[in-house]
Amino acid sequence: MEKLYEGKAKILYQTDDPDILLTYYKDDATAFNAQKRGQIVGKGEINCTVSTALFQWLESLGIPTHYIDRPSSREMRVKAIKIIPLEVVVRNIAAGSLCKQTGLKEGKVLPFPLVEFYLKDDALGDPLLTPDRIKVIDIASEEQVNQLRDLALQINQYLQEFFDKCQIILVDFKLEFGVDKTGKIYLGDEISPDTCRLWDKTQEDAQARILDKDRFRRDLGDVETAYQQVQARVLQQIESL
Ligand code: CDP
Repeated sequence: MEKLYEGKAKILYQTDDPDILLTYYKDDATAFNAQKRGQIVGKGEINCTVSTALFQWLESLGIPTHYIDRPSSREMRVKAIKIIPLEVVVRNIAAGSLCKQTGLKEGKVLPFPLVEFYLKDDALGDPLLTPDRIKVIDIASEEQVNQLRDLALQINQYLQEFFDKCQIILVDFKLEFGVDKTGKIYLGDEISPDTCRLWDKTQEDAQARILDKDRFRRDLGDVETAYQQVQARVLQQIESL
């Protein structure tokens, strides 16, 4: 198969069908715009499994996703959508760059879910956008941006409830969307411990509760165990539905 693109965590291949792509989930991990690099053993399989479970579940609730099927433990077949170069971040609790840039204390529950748009451009360091900047650079129409916002908030509501039942707090997460030939919007990329901040509700300690890529970013150790925990709880919750 022709390799179309190799990203930091996944490789994208063209399949025989022009409308279908294959994504291969790697164990490679990067942070801080790829300044920090490493491997999380088993991550590719876990992220592929967790994303599959969440995409299928969201799809059943009426959210269009790019997911088609999972031919192997690290491979996902997806619809060939054109990715809108925006990273849509939803935050329920202050963490990460929000704390760095605003001085909000990590762990503060936000008064409402905060939706942010970042430009998906590694060379520019994925800058935070404003509504007017989105218009000026013309990467999405105002109507599309409103649709993305509504979808992101709806997905947040579903995921927050889902993770709550897994005894996990959904702190924040990043989504990517794409459009098909008709202009229909689909949820793309992945939803995994790489792209979400997830805190274990059963742990009080601010570091012990972290079940996501922050363990890698901040060298907290037990990264693999945390990812396995998330996978086990997500699969258990899916089975109980
Ligand atoms: O992770 P960092 O502190 O640099 O950025 P953030 O803006 O606080 O990230 C918010 C959420 O989006 C976190 O759950 C990140 O894991 C996720 N994110 C991502 O998956 N990919 C990015 N390029 C940026 C953020």
